[in-house]
Amino acid sequence: MRNFEFYNPVNIVFGQGQIKKLNKLVPANTKIMLAYGGGSIFKNGVYEQVKSALTGYDILEFGGIEPNPHYETLMKAAEIVKNEKIGFILAVGGGSVLDGVKFIAAAALWEEGDPWMFLVDRSIVVTKAVPLGSVLTLPATGSEMNSTAVVTRVSTQEKFAFASYAVMPKFSILDPTVVFSLPEKQVANGVVDAFVHVIEQYLTYPVNSPIQDRFAESILVTLAEEGPKVLANLADYDAAANFMWAATMALNGLIGTGVPQDWATHQIGHELTAFHNIDHARTLAIVLPGIMKVKRENKREKLLQYGERVWGITAGTEDTRIDATIEKTVAFFESFGIPTKLSAYNIGADFIPVVCNRFAERGTKGIGERGDLTVEQIGEVLTLQL
Ligand code: NZQ
Ligand code: ZN
Repeated sequence: MRNFEFYNPVNIVFGQGQIKKLNKLVPANTKIMLAYGGGSIFKNGVYEQVKSALTGYDILEFGGIEPNPHYETLMKAAEIVKNEKIGFILAVGGGSVLDGVKFIAAAALWEEGDPWMFLVDRSIVVTKAVPLGSVLTLPATGSEMNSTAVVTRVSTQEKFAFASYAVMPKFSILDPTVVFSLPEKQVANGVVDAFVHVIEQYLTYPVNSPIQDRFAESILVTLAEEGPKVLANLADYDAAANFMWAATMALNGLIGTGVPQDWATHQIGHELTAFHNIDHARTLAIVLPGIMKVKRENKREKLLQYGERVWGITAGTEDTRIDATIEKTVAFFESFGIPTKLSAYNIGADFIPVVCNRFAERGTKGIGERGDLTVEQIGEVLTLQL
């Protein structure tokens, strides 16, 4: 196992009826921005619960944060935070609202020019942000318990992430009943996104880290068992609760401690969203099978371990088992109604050089856990998924 530091101060408040605790979690002596997305919170009763818990608070509302939140919209909110001297931002929504709020909180206090720079240049460290908290309405991204935010700039069709301890939520309320109102498509997306988060931190190469491996495998098995139960019955509270906690645990830093991490699937996937506005999780379901095939040798030992411990694949030669493991992963994604081929999203071969050029223009030598997935191989990954 490699050396590591693990720091996660987010206060998780989990369970049914917990939204009413907001008045113990949000500071009362400052002006609050309540930020949300396209309005789902008005339909499922979450908005009323939040407002009633915060009766008497000085609240300014900012709605309209898009899925894959737009830099252009978030900059407007950051301006309001500055002008109105907002002292705390409450995000009520899915990963997009949470990420959007993290960016708003950092951008509002950024004094070195255009905040876009800390998204483009990962070496820039953001140290200041307006404090924030969240009421999560969609289990998927793990944003509720991590330091990352992903922002899309519509004008240039770019999508980048930044990470900073300064934007970790002070608290996140996880009430599994929010799952009851989710469209089936968002449940499917949530299961697949969380599943691939684990894969990005697990399916690399062994470094003798049995704790991390078995934590990761337990999350994968839980998602594989509970995801279909949630889809079969959105009102199954226990399944919703297990799904929600699994998604949070998938990307709160714990399973990634001291182990190599990949993230190539996410990096390539972000380009599919930036150019074609495909849902984040769907981009991952397209790219991951291609990565497993192209990096089959690099990932051989972990592919065998994953196949055996998560899917029970033990029969046959190593190569047969790896083939079966990749097929099982594809079948799992497709069982949620998520296609894994570009053609299903009306994307053809002409798009592949566009993605490769983008990585080449950024000077990418290689990505993935060994930094050896070249631009040419990114093209191979996408070609396999046509
Ligand atoms: O906008 P509203 O009206 O709220 O509707 C949303 C949105 O249309 C709806 N929704 C959310 N909760 C609902 C609900 N509808 C009914 N009932 C509810 N309880 O769902 C739609 C999608 O929401 P969104 O927040 O976009 O989805 P998700 O949570 O999957 O977030 C995706 C974003 O997170 C980023 C992605 O790149 C993408 O931009 N990610 C963030 C990460 C992080 N911070 O660590 C890691 C991830 O890998 C990911 O990249
Ligand atoms: Zn993701």
